[in-house]
Amino acid sequence: MPQLIYTLLLMLLAVVTFGDTKACNETCSFTVDYEHDRFLLDGKPFRFVSGSFHYFRALPGSWRHILRSMRAAGLNVVMTYIEWSTHEPKEGIYNWDGIANLEEFIRIADEENLYVVLRPGPYICAERDMGGFPYWLLTKYPSMKLRTSDADFLREVEKWYDVLLPRIKKYLRGQGGPVIMVSIENEYGSFSACDHEYLSFLKNLTEKYVQNDAVLFTNDMPDQLECGSIPGVLATVDFGTTDNPDQHWQKLRKYQPKGPLVNAEFYPGWFTHWTEPMARVAVGPVADTLRTMLSSGASVNFYMFFGGTNFGFTAGANGGGPGEYQADITSYDYDAPLDEAGDPTSKYYTLRSAVLEYLPDPDVPVPPRLPKMSLPPVKLNRYGSLMSTEARQALGYHTKSSERPLSFEALDQHSGLVLYEATIPSGTNRDPLLLKVQDLRDRAYVHVNNKFIGVLYRENAIDSIPVSLGQGERLQLLVENLGRINYAIANDFKGILGSVTFDGNEILNWTMTRFPLEDYSLLQNYVDRYSGYEVEASRNAAAQIFQGTFVIHSQPIHDTYVDPTGWGKGLIFINGFNLGRYWPLAGPQVTLYVPRHILHEGSNTILVIEYQQEIQGDAVITFTDQPKLDGL
Ligand SMILES: *[C@@H]1O[C@H](CO)[C@@H](O)[C@H](O)[C@H]1NC(C)=O
Ligand SMILES: *[C@@H]1O[C@H](CO)[C@@H](O)[C@H](O)[C@H]1NC(C)=O
Repeated sequence: MPQLIYTLLLMLLAVVTFGDTKACNETCSFTVDYEHDRFLLDGKPFRFVSGSFHYFRALPGSWRHILRSMRAAGLNVVMTYIEWSTHEPKEGIYNWDGIANLEEFIRIADEENLYVVLRPGPYICAERDMGGFPYWLLTKYPSMKLRTSDADFLREVEKWYDVLLPRIKKYLRGQGGPVIMVSIENEYGSFSACDHEYLSFLKNLTEKYVQNDAVLFTNDMPDQLECGSIPGVLATVDFGTTDNPDQHWQKLRKYQPKGPLVNAEFYPGWFTHWTEPMARVAVGPVADTLRTMLSSGASVNFYMFFGGTNFGFTAGANGGGPGEYQADITSYDYDAPLDEAGDPTSKYYTLRSAVLEYLPDPDVPVPPRLPKMSLPPVKLNRYGSLMSTEARQALGYHTKSSERPLSFEALDQHSGLVLYEATIPSGTNRDPLLLKVQDLRDRAYVHVNNKFIGVLYRENAIDSIPVSLGQGERLQLLVENLGRINYAIANDFKGILGSVTFDGNEILNWTMTRFPLEDYSLLQNYVDRYSGYEVEASRNAAAQIFQGTFVIHSQPIHDTYVDPTGWGKGLIFINGFNLGRYWPLAGPQVTLYVPRHILHEGSNTILVIEYQQEIQGDAVITFTDQPKLDGL
């Protein structure tokens, strides 16, 4: 008899916790039962253990594998931000394919028996460039006040939501889909503007589409509910490991006396800036805090359960340190339970055991670690500098002139590099002279007459360099954007924002050449037509271009890691795909993750733009089967 009751209880629990996403028909709903401190899924009590996984940080070919690994850990929900800049990289040009195929991501999650929580922001933070906002907002409205009721901002958000939310509608629970919750803003309480009018606007706009088909929520750090919570919207809190989760729940209860407890961002790992040690979070306290929260009936989202990669120019930055700037590394491994390649770590197994003490075992076998491959060293050919005449003609855009330097945004450029050039004033015999660049964002490779003489960098608050006479009269500053600040968001314009002075005298009359490095076909054309005479002419300049090929014989093809040890700082493209920034000299990240999906059998191409280091002798790069994220 006790056995029978136990079995019945288990069955009941299974029904309560899973709910078949396809079989709800007219009972389809997800609501908050404030009175009983719980959620109701299709009218039945429900609580979740969820994991954050941002689709834009992994290639679609690996989505199912990762989602299944999450389900196998006992999770019943996947939470993702929606990144505006991924979907509207240029104004009015929308992208819903490949890594931007949000609907496909939702469908796969559904097929893997996960419910979905969407966090459309529009501000997402997330250690992404500009917190997920598209840069062109600042091109169009240089004085826009993001995350406030600035009329221009509200109008642009409304335009974006009018495109986004109708696409989401059919996936909401009330429409029979897997999406149970939709967030409003993101830790708004931590933002100084504290603009309740804006939150009210965003709530109304979201509600217009979501109606009662999903639960709307906000998330804030426990001390910041005052400016972050919205009347009539479920408030949740974000906190990491602690001996006493109760203190945080009490702060939530002050604002929301009844309703389900949710930790929307529980941190099993953390992010890392360049030059810092790789963030590592011990699993013991994570498991302990998790058990305490689950024992009190709370729902919990791991941020991140799978971190992935900031491919291309998508990494963000913070505003700390001596130069009030700290750029994030390319990897978003996050020391998460699933590593950057999507493989289970020992942390995964520990947390899975803890989760399964509270949620039913979904009986999904844990997908095994996928094999990784190394490759023989690849020798690269030299194609001169980005600053050479030939490269400028092939890759540089719209040389523009103006009295004072223009920002990347004023030049309508997202990221990459901009070359600023001016004539050094004559008529002085002081030697050397101090070149000073005010408000540099972020890093300048300083040249005189095509000769690289040193680096200035915002992060270290190094803004000046001596220049000796007789080096030439052409001053050239090749300026790199290392990612716009994503937290406590300001308008983090890039380029040279202040004045450039020589011995205190301002240098005027600049020409700017843009290198957005967005269209790989230009790079490939350049390499294909390269005549060779520029190698010598630009050999003393920074930003040297290298390309080589490597052959893959084996099938199936595995993930690998490109190891730029011995190189300085720059960018790597494989088969035209921008893997992101490498910087082994600063670390801690050394290798870049190379997803198997960008490789193919036969000949593959690697292109490197090395920003600062002279590569002597043969230029060689290797591929290893092990990530190296903890320094050289
Ligand atoms: C949002 O809607 C409510 C209810 O209709 C209204 O009172 C409020 O003024 C609206 N907020 C804004 C910013 O329009
Ligand atoms: C800048 O250009 C303007 C217009 O061509 C010219 O009048 C001025 O003398 C130049 N200034 C400097 C410092 O070269």
